[in-house]
Amino acid sequence: MSVYDAIRLRRDVRAEFTGDVVDEGTLWRILEAAHCAPSVGNTQPWDFTVVRDRQRLRTFAEHVAGKRREFHDSLPPERAATFDPIKIEGIEDSGTGIVVTYDHGRGGEHVLGRATVPETGVYSAVLAIQNLWLAATAEGIGVGWVSFYDSEFLAELIGIPAGIRPIAWLCIGPVREFQEVPDLERFGWRTGRALSEAVHRETFGRPQDDMR
Ligand SMILES: Cc1cc2nc3c(=O)[nH]c(=O)nc-3n(C[C@H](O)[C@H](O)[C@H](O)COP(=O)(O)O)c2cc1C
Repeated sequence: MSVYDAIRLRRDVRAEFTGDVVDEGTLWRILEAAHCAPSVGNTQPWDFTVVRDRQRLRTFAEHVAGKRREFHDSLPPERAATFDPIKIEGIEDSGTGIVVTYDHGRGGEHVLGRATVPETGVYSAVLAIQNLWLAATAEGIGVGWVSFYDSEFLAELIGIPAGIRPIAWLCIGPVREFQEVPDLERFGWRTGRALSEAVHRETFGRPQDDMR
């Protein structure tokens, strides 16, 4: 599969997990791809904690369900009705969680490239996630990013040391299919915008003519 094919096929997966668990060999290849990501000052500030214990998955899923309810209750009625049928996680269905954490201390005091833009460390961890996501797609494995959680809760659940920050819970597992259209679009929550709206020429806000 070409990288362009993987980019086009990739979806955030919630409802399409088969219930089988991704095998160790495939999981390791996907993690190797994540670990190949570029990082500021070559710090590789990420860690990946693989969670499979059923009770731990359930405990996290219950926490996320509570956060989903809180978000639902914060919405005006019309938005709440649109949100109702949208599944926001596949924590137990996928059978595997990967918690990606960020260690700001990695690389010591003088990180080349981070002095002026401190967020470049977190950007690096997120690039590892994108590598992971595309590699998983090429393997026919689904990934769903869950961010409906309190960081302190997750840190406690998997024993993240002080100073290290959780960036994402990723649900990972074999899928029946990849949806062609993102769930949030299919359920009428929010549609994407055209590339031409995102590209500016010379100064921000100046629309571009057709570049092709
Ligand atoms: C930083 C980040 C956090 C996200 N958190 C959630 C989440 O908590 N629950 C969820 O269902 N999807 C989550 N998503 C997935 C997005 O909703 C999804 O990427 C977007 O709707 C586009 O769909 P696609 O990834 O299938 O193209 C998250 C994505 C990102 C990048």
